[in-house]
Amino acid sequence: MSSNQELAERSRRAVWHPCTQMQRHEREPLLPIVRGEGVWLIDADGRRYLDALSSWWVNLFGHGHPGIKAALHDQIERLDHVMLAGLTHEPVIELSERLAALTGLGHAFYGSDGASATEIGLKMSAHFWRNVGRPQKCEFIGLAGGYHGETIGALSVTDIALFREAYAPLVRLSAALPSPDARQAAPGDDAVAHARRCAAALEAYLDEHHARTAALIVEPLVQCAAGFAMHDAEYLRRARALCDRYDVHLIVDEIAVGFGRTGTLFAHQQADIRPDFICLSKGLTGGTLPLSAVLTTDAVYAAFYDERVARGFLHSHSYTGNPLACRAALAVLDVFEREPVLQRNRDTAAQLTELAVPITQHPRVKQARQLGMLWAWDIATDDPGFSSRLHRAALEQGLLLRPIGATLYWMPPYVIDEPAMRHLADGTLRALDAALAA
Ligand SMILES: Cc1ncc(COP(=O)(O)O)c(C=O)c1O
Repeated sequence: MSSNQELAERSRRAVWHPCTQMQRHEREPLLPIVRGEGVWLIDADGRRYLDALSSWWVNLFGHGHPGIKAALHDQIERLDHVMLAGLTHEPVIELSERLAALTGLGHAFYGSDGASATEIGLKMSAHFWRNVGRPQKCEFIGLAGGYHGETIGALSVTDIALFREAYAPLVRLSAALPSPDARQAAPGDDAVAHARRCAAALEAYLDEHHARTAALIVEPLVQCAAGFAMHDAEYLRRARALCDRYDVHLIVDEIAVGFGRTGTLFAHQQADIRPDFICLSKGLTGGTLPLSAVLTTDAVYAAFYDERVARGFLHSHSYTGNPLACRAALAVLDVFEREPVLQRNRDTAAQLTELAVPITQHPRVKQARQLGMLWAWDIATDDPGFSSRLHRAALEQGLLLRPIGATLYWMPPYVIDEPAMRHLADGTLRALDAALAA
């Protein structure tokens, strides 16, 4: 079998890795992973790393989950793939029915990844307004620091300069309104008061621009890529009321926070609101296969339902509703249905929060926050190399961590057990000290 060194070198020559300045890998070798077992990733030299990022936030129940694997084996024996225009199949039907029952929104439209779900949501919203005779409603609003993917349309509502700057001339920028990020509260304001202030800014914007605005897109409760910026559910409640008042769609992007991550099956449920669109991906297949879905209301669907072809939603991807991915998603929903996942996560979160106290109390930690199965710490450092130094120090400890700037975070698979939790907490503390000392 090939070694780490050999695979890293071949990869560097042949693969253009995502979100990466490739030159960096002249000095820092890529890490070849050959196996995944539960919360562990195993490299080509046999070393084990705890996957504290759930492989970019997709993995819910660990690598190689037996139920998901069995569903995939069964499905590949029956039907690998078939186009979804003019044809249909049981996995996509059942998945759509079950997602509708879980969310109260239906008419599931499928894409392959998070960014394509964002594109679908934005296009559907603008096309809805065109179909109902209000074509001037074709602009979008996002939040400061928002992240909804990196295709050109998704970048128009993604407010992260590093990802957007080089493509600015290609992107039709949307307004980025003040983020309800509780850390940005003015002195004397708490998270709720700050959420209300930001909702007031949304109101002022909509009052002026509603006639041209199709939709507001938000990451409910946590803006993950912004560095796990958390906000009070009050913002979502007010945003819902304002979108109703001004005839603007509310799109909730549950791509990162859906499927139990924040403590409820979907994050927006903590605000007790009904969005016009829900975007799902990542955890939808438990981290096994790429799949995304956009769910919407009967009213939106009805505006497309017509004899005229051009009034239909003529968007498509070759792998739309892939049967294997849908079976994986059904197996994920089975786990939620058969096991007390959310209750178990509450216990796990309490235990891990306790084990994290030495990190939270670290003298270089400026702010700590936690929600559901998500933890984040802002580190007092202005060293631009902090993130990659900590990443490397964590690998030494048998941990996969990848801070966002100076924000260190955990987003582990839900199946993390006590020894693995101790490994995570102890290793993170050691890696933090090593990265800060370097
Ligand atoms: C909230 C949110 N939306 C959209 C995306 C884009 O998903 P993908 O990377 O699958 O395109 C991400 C990815 O991190 C995300 O966190």
